[in-house]
Amino acid sequence: MLKKELWIIANFKSQKNITQALDWLSVVGPKLHKNENLKIVVCPVFTDLSEVKKEVLTSGYPIMVGSQDISPFPEGAYTGEEAASILKNIVDLAILGHSERRKNFGETDEQIAEKVKQAKQSDIIPLVCVQGSDTPVPEGADLVAYEPVWAIGTGEADTPADANEVAGKLKGKYPGVTVLYGGSVDEGNVKAFVGQENINGCLIATASLDPEQFLKIINSL
Ligand code: PGA
Repeated sequence: MLKKELWIIANFKSQKNITQALDWLSVVGPKLHKNENLKIVVCPVFTDLSEVKKEVLTSGYPIMVGSQDISPFPEGAYTGEEAASILKNIVDLAILGHSERRKNFGETDEQIAEKVKQAKQSDIIPLVCVQGSDTPVPEGADLVAYEPVWAIGTGEADTPADANEVAGKLKGKYPGVTVLYGGSVDEGNVKAFVGQENINGCLIATASLDPEQFLKIINSL
């Protein structure tokens, strides 16, 4: 049994169609054991969400489903957006403010704060990505992922000690937040990160894509 609550979140980014996402789930799902202290979340693309959720429910896998974004607006005339109230019954969590969205889609701190509000109103857990201890954490966001931009997808993770220090600063600034680390996490370093006092899990993209590698990460905990 794990000593503290841990979150392990797989972010597929803009990868895997429905068949590929279901294949991944068919390998990972049956190998997961219920563990109150381990919260595992898979975040595929929007079009995969409902099929993945259906399969999780039918098979009773202990895994939550999350989206990689959410609209800053309620339902209405906002072409191309996915409103929280529409996603409500499909996702448990939404990744918000990922650095790729800030950089490629011009997402602002203000929009991220609106997304957090929308998520909360629909009982979706907002997971806000921050790039350092200076990135603002919007009110209502209890789950935060520290993801230094230079560590994302590069194979050059931050050191667990440094990540712990940043997580400590965030917890000092925003009492009550739970902090995760993300950026080149794999089966070789995950334990060192989650072993840090201020870190309660990891947000993982590259090393989550291969189901066997993802299981190695889970099993190493
Ligand atoms: P990575 O990405 O695991 O590929 O470094 C993490 C992320 O972008 O959330």
